[in-house]
Amino acid sequence: MPSTFLMIKPEAVKAGLQGQIIDILLKNRFALRKMKLFRFEREKAGEFYGIHKDKPFFADLMEYITSGDVIGMELEKDGDVVTLLRELVGATDPADARPGTIRYMYGRSLQANAVHASDSPESAEKELAIIFPEE
Ligand code: CMP
Repeated sequence: MPSTFLMIKPEAVKAGLQGQIIDILLKNRFALRKMKLFRFEREKAGEFYGIHKDKPFFADLMEYITSGDVIGMELEKDGDVVTLLRELVGATDPADARPGTIRYMYGRSLQANAVHASDSPESAEKELAIIFPEE
């Protein structure tokens, strides 16, 4: 079954929202295959978000994503799992996210937007290999 990657970001973990977010994922029939709580090293964070390294927000993104624990997950679902998960997650900026989406409910700002979800099957494969290198 196709799978993708989701990460609960530092501010959502600090706020204790991980249970509610996982509950939404399971209720929407995403199967949780792997899960890991960890804190990014600066180098690994740079590799993970390498696609953004020339963006003006990259330094802030590195500061933020290494600021606390995150939870990474491999999620499976029949069909176009990447698109289905991104629909449930909502727009990058919570101010633009539709009601019912995870970022609408739990996102606080463009940076502190509760979760990250892979944007393509290629990104999912790359991100899963970075976060779960042992498997
Ligand atoms: P994410 O899906 O994790 O991918 C990159 C992150 O950079 C994004 O969510 C946002 O939280 C963050 N970010 C900060 N500023 C911007 C911006 N101007 N445009 C897009 N993403 C941004």
